[in-house]
Amino acid sequence: MKKILIANWKMNPQGFKEAKNIFNEIKKQALKLKKVEIVVCPPFIYIPILSGGKINIGAQDIFYENKGAFTGEISAKMLKDANVKYVIIGHSERRALGESDELLNKKLKAALGAGLKTIFCVGEPERDIEGNYLQFVKNQIEVGLKDIPRKNLKNLLIAYEPVWAISSQPGARADTSESAFRMGIYIRKTLLPIMGNVLARNISVLYGGSVNVQNAQDFFANSGMDGALVGGQSLIAKNFNQILKFAEITKVAKN
Ligand code: PGA
Repeated sequence: MKKILIANWKMNPQGFKEAKNIFNEIKKQALKLKKVEIVVCPPFIYIPILSGGKINIGAQDIFYENKGAFTGEISAKMLKDANVKYVIIGHSERRALGESDELLNKKLKAALGAGLKTIFCVGEPERDIEGNYLQFVKNQIEVGLKDIPRKNLKNLLIAYEPVWAISSQPGARADTSESAFRMGIYIRKTLLPIMGNVLARNISVLYGGSVNVQNAQDFFANSGMDGALVGGQSLIAKNFNQILKFAEITKVAKN
């Protein structure tokens, strides 16, 4: 299976020209790769100017209604019309702005119902030694995916992004590949009663949080994850391209 690498640009870069430049650099690298699925998620306004090559376009959010009086929002249908294939839902930065698990459930229903490949972000704010963070992540998944028809869940991806590992957090550090490995297993176990054995085994589970040129190889070899969601480093084309190359060439270690 191809590794999936998501570039989450967040509210960057600051203009069209720079957005195009970064995208074009990534495009050149994409042409050389066979084993990596690349998704760039720019701010909405750049979506129409970024296209082509082997890069999929993703959005960073969506609204759950199809149309109507919802000032400032964007629907799944509009995104599909703009050739968007993927959408990120429930990023910790959106949760921090007030998005609840219940709201995210509505967004997930809309995105998956529209046939978008939907990257659902989960992750605990901190690791407590009692292990309560496991229940925290489980709850995010269970509420987020409540009452979504099984047939729509085939387009789901989970991104495990512990909040403390995201590079913009003070004192952030990446999770270890061993710990991410265990979280991957735990997440699939949580998915099992929700979607059944086959889907729970086969949907992609990605890691996100301070992935960089120094730690990418270790993650691809040892975390058991199907890919990565990259924030800060995806805006530096040279670094992101190196991470993509590692995803292409790193052999998965046999455990
Ligand atoms: P980071 O961001 O790679 O800069 O830590 C990841 C994310 O927030 O999705």
